Amino acid sequence: MEKIRIFDTTLRDGEQSPGASMNLDEKIRLARQLERLNVDVIEAGFPSSSPGDFESVKRIAQEIQGPQIAGLSRTTPADIDRAWEALRFARSPLIHVFIATSDIHLQYKLRKSREEVLEEAGRAVAYARRYTPEVEFSAEDATRSDPEYLARVVEAAIEAGATIVNIPDTVGYIIPTEYGKLITFLRQKVKNIHKAILSVHCHNDLGMAVANSLAAVENGARQLECTVNGIGERAGNASLEEIVMALKTRRDFFSSYQVGVVTEQIYPASRLLSSITGIMVPPNKAIVGANAFAHEAGIHQDGVLKEKTTYEIMRPESVGIGQSTLVMGKHSGRHAFRERIKTLGYELSEAHLNQAFQRFKEVADKKKQVFDEDLEAIIADEILRIPDIYKLVNLNVVSGSVVVPTATVQIEIGGKVYQEAGFGDGPVDAAYKTISRITKTKSRLLKFSVNAITGGTDAQGEVMVILEEGGVRVTGQGAHTDIIMAAAKAYINGLNKLEYQKRIKGA
Ligand code: KIV
Ligand code: ZN
Repeated sequence: MEKIRIFDTTLRDGEQSPGASMNLDEKIRLARQLERLNVDVIEAGFPSSSPGDFESVKRIAQEIQGPQIAGLSRTTPADIDRAWEALRFARSPLIHVFIATSDIHLQYKLRKSREEVLEEAGRAVAYARRYTPEVEFSAEDATRSDPEYLARVVEAAIEAGATIVNIPDTVGYIIPTEYGKLITFLRQKVKNIHKAILSVHCHNDLGMAVANSLAAVENGARQLECTVNGIGERAGNASLEEIVMALKTRRDFFSSYQVGVVTEQIYPASRLLSSITGIMVPPNKAIVGANAFAHEAGIHQDGVLKEKTTYEIMRPESVGIGQSTLVMGKHSGRHAFRERIKTLGYELSEAHLNQAFQRFKEVADKKKQVFDEDLEAIIADEILRIPDIYKLVNLNVVSGSVVVPTATVQIEIGGKVYQEAGFGDGPVDAAYKTISRITKTKSRLLKFSVNAITGGTDAQGEVMVILEEGGVRVTGQGAHTDIIMAAAKAYINGLNKLEYQKRIKGA
């Protein structure tokens, strides 16, 4: 069996998706989940792109022990030095150097000749190899490059010491059979190709990123670059869960390959990512969408009840869905709570456990049954927040068909409680206007969405907002059985994140 390496780039290419930026704590939390998922490589960021990216690559390199940690770098010595500075503490560091090879990029973006790029690629790889034995070289826009020239660049990169060569479909342009032929061509044409692992990195502009990745495997690629939920530039990257489950579910077809991913951690990874970024997974999304294992048509339901395999090609439990049926209620004790939290993959300090347990009891008092999704929302809402500058103390809203919606809000800022009352077009509007008056903030609300975390009228509501101020965009989340409370919490969470960003930038 040949190993297919799973190279996760959620924290680098994924984070380049509009609205997907994460702070340091969020990146570390996601990196820990990627470690539980057992991916082979975590691309933690692009160290020279910003001080924040540098810091997060460095922290992830220091804290994550399982997967190899990669950092992206352009071909300049300064970029490579910076990447190494961030990666040097990793158990197994990987410098990932890239330069474009298509004529379009050479002419309009780099303004360099083919010979110059060829020479620069080799020089950069050799420079990176002075630091570490593992260097990946990517030929950006490879699929729109002249294949003969691409082969020369790949050969030069391997000659200079690249241990992995990546052939990205940067703009999601290629068709699976064409990609397969390109990979085969490179394997035949590049004399030293056996000295490196062939990797692919596919974007989803034409909806073929996963199909292209699998076609590349059939033709010799042994590393696949992908992201959780398929997030990434524009239409995103190849989705990790789809690639992995295709290889596992169709083991009959892909019989000579194996992947090391712990598939039961797929759904928790997907949920964690969307709770951090606020980017919801569409219900019909393969593997992790809410409807991915839901059977609606009568004929299908009948078939599944008689024999699951009539309409199910995978078991939901195999991707970590379905264990959530264990229900907790107000009589559940601390011990059961602690055990459940552990099973969900969270390691909380004693103080955080107490805090979460207290909130769980409040929720359990209001709801008959508390599901795993509720517990995850409690943890995201109570524990995994950045340090709060604004804390909601009290919210009272009066609204109805004959009264003007009015909100009275108390917020603690720097140890002092401030109170205001205000009107609005509806209860949420009244609360938001009053909150922004107390906090003296001027953010724009770009998106507001409400989700019921589980079914029933007593379900917790999960509100997600996207706020923007001075060109900085953040997401805010809040969960509560009272939807207006959830909305206020989401807004204040967003304001706290904006304030946090301002402080980081000012620092
Ligand atoms: O899409 C792309 O070409 C990339 C490279 C930097 C690997 O993200
Ligand atoms: Zn990319």
